[in-house]
Amino acid sequence: METGDETKFVSMPRIGDKAPAFKAVTTQGEIDFPGQYAGSWVILFSHPADFTPVCTSEFMTFAQMENQFAELNCKLVGLSIDGLYSHIAWLRTIKEKIEYKGMKNLEVKFPLIEDVSMEVAKLYGMLQPGESTTKAVRAVFVIDPKGIIRTIIYYPLSMGRNFDELLRVLQALKTADAFSVATPADWRPGDDVIVPTAGSCGVAKERMDGKEKDVTCHDWFFCTKKIDKEKVLNTIKKTAAK
Ligand code: BEZ
Repeated sequence: METGDETKFVSMPRIGDKAPAFKAVTTQGEIDFPGQYAGSWVILFSHPADFTPVCTSEFMTFAQMENQFAELNCKLVGLSIDGLYSHIAWLRTIKEKIEYKGMKNLEVKFPLIEDVSMEVAKLYGMLQPGESTTKAVRAVFVIDPKGIIRTIIYYPLSMGRNFDELLRVLQALKTADAFSVATPADWRPGDDVIVPTAGSCGVAKERMDGKEKDVTCHDWFFCTKKIDKEKVLNTIKKTAAK
């Protein structure tokens, strides 16, 4: 990379920022991002290149899980620094030829952005020059119905993503919003959630004394409560907006 080019790679949106806006050509036509996704959650993700094995395994997994994300009112949008015809040919190959881990005949119905100019990749900090100056890393942006970035995850070129984790992230974000709670390490729907720290010593003492219904305290600053798995799953399915 030549001196001076570094500045083109430094746009790094952060959690809590409004998702940077762009228009792009995709395998499903033009998109206006994030405007046309208002009211939905959306996962914008990048992959290094079409016709590569790790990316193929990821696209097959995402295509297979698309309905699970849709049930949570979440749409998927992919991106790589490849052209439209490459994208189309690769997705056709996946559908017509690739069988992997019991997955086959998978149609990728969500849009895949062509970004030969690298404009979107640069806007979202998907190009990380220490890893590659020509391929996007495996970035994941989880964006809420108001267009706010709520989670960012980056993986290097060599590592396929864990798609159960991406689903868990969405479930946890929606649960935190719907129930005004936080989720502890490795939380899954049905596990206990963390209640906000008591606003006064009196409430903290009542909790510690076990007087607050359904709340268990491990210390004054660390209290949990149970939310039934069905209740969580039904609520996060229904809640379209934050
Ligand atoms: C892959 O998807 O297999 C891949 C892409 C770029 C670099 C390394 C691996």
